[in-house]
Amino acid sequence: MKVTVVGAGAVGASCAEYIAIKNFASEVVLVDIKEGFAEGKAMDLMQTASLNGFDTRIVGATNDYSKTAGSDICVITSGIPRKPGMTREELIGINAGIVKSVSASLVQHSPNTILIVVSNPMDTMTYLAHKTTGLPKNRIIGMGGALDSARFKYRIAEALDAPISDVDGMVIGGHSDTGMVPLTRLATRNSVPVSAFMSEARLEQVKEDTKVGGATLTKLLGTSAWYAPGAAVSAMVQAIACDQKKMFPCSTMLEGEYNLNDICIGVPVLIGKNGIEKIVSIELNAAEKAHMQESAEGVRKTNDLLEL
Ligand SMILES: NC(=O)c1ccc[n+]([C@@H]2O[C@H](COP(=O)([O-])OP(=O)(O)OC[C@H]3O[C@@H](n4cnc5c(N)ncnc54)[C@H](O)[C@@H]3O)[C@@H](O)[C@H]2O)c1
Repeated sequence: MKVTVVGAGAVGASCAEYIAIKNFASEVVLVDIKEGFAEGKAMDLMQTASLNGFDTRIVGATNDYSKTAGSDICVITSGIPRKPGMTREELIGINAGIVKSVSASLVQHSPNTILIVVSNPMDTMTYLAHKTTGLPKNRIIGMGGALDSARFKYRIAEALDAPISDVDGMVIGGHSDTGMVPLTRLATRNSVPVSAFMSEARLEQVKEDTKVGGATLTKLLGTSAWYAPGAAVSAMVQAIACDQKKMFPCSTMLEGEYNLNDICIGVPVLIGKNGIEKIVSIELNAAEKAHMQESAEGVRKTNDLLEL
């Protein structure tokens, strides 16, 4: 199993680290445009191997895609992150060009690869990859919902003063401050709806804190977060590598599912060796359906800014 991660910055390096620590991949190639940066990150990470007990080989390359040839999975994290006060959508001007050229280079050297798109605005960057690479739709996956759901679970556990392993929950919809649809109705603590343990107002607060989860961290850190994004990508990479058929909400090209067409947005999917093995349909109530449609309108507005 060979995995390429483009962008050796905060998210890319964290993602490479978590993949290596889990020890399921033979090789991780880190690529960055900044001279020597990916090589440096790869060497530093390799020097943790004997300490952390992994055998995954990590190599770095400055813009040399020949090193990525034959990758089973390629992750795109290259591009600028947001600064405090910015929305993800504001990154489109710079990141669209980067994602377009990087995905073309990746597919040229690994035509059978599965692409995981992380760069923001992620739903639109995933859509761009669909429109420009020609890869089948099961082989392009946007990472957003896995992270947003982890943040949702964190907020539920906080509100309940419960261990996170006790709680379950999922966030679908667009990966943006206003577009996320945290499914509070379906969130549970050990199979019991969380609404049994907290007031409606507290649950609403959990929902709002989840939606601005990224913005909250950007304000604290001065740039966007990396540990949870890296962990979320590594979980998806592992699900593909180990053919787990694990369910994550991911940005995927919809063709009628959830009453949406020609859009990439977060819905539950099963992830396995073929990438997206199945789009899972869940019954949404009227409010959730309306929220999902509103979220899709927001994503479409950003998609309209693309020059395809
Ligand atoms: N989808 C998500 O849930 C999620 C979560 C966190 C961050 N992000 C996004 O991921 C992206 C990366 O964030 P970060 O914090 O790692 O940023 P960062 O600035 O730390 O790293 C980005 C790296 O990309 C490199 N790069 C730029 N252009 C390149 C190119 N053409 N080829 C190769 N490398 C190139 C830069 O040199 C830099 O090292 C941002 O767009 C951010 O918004 C998405």
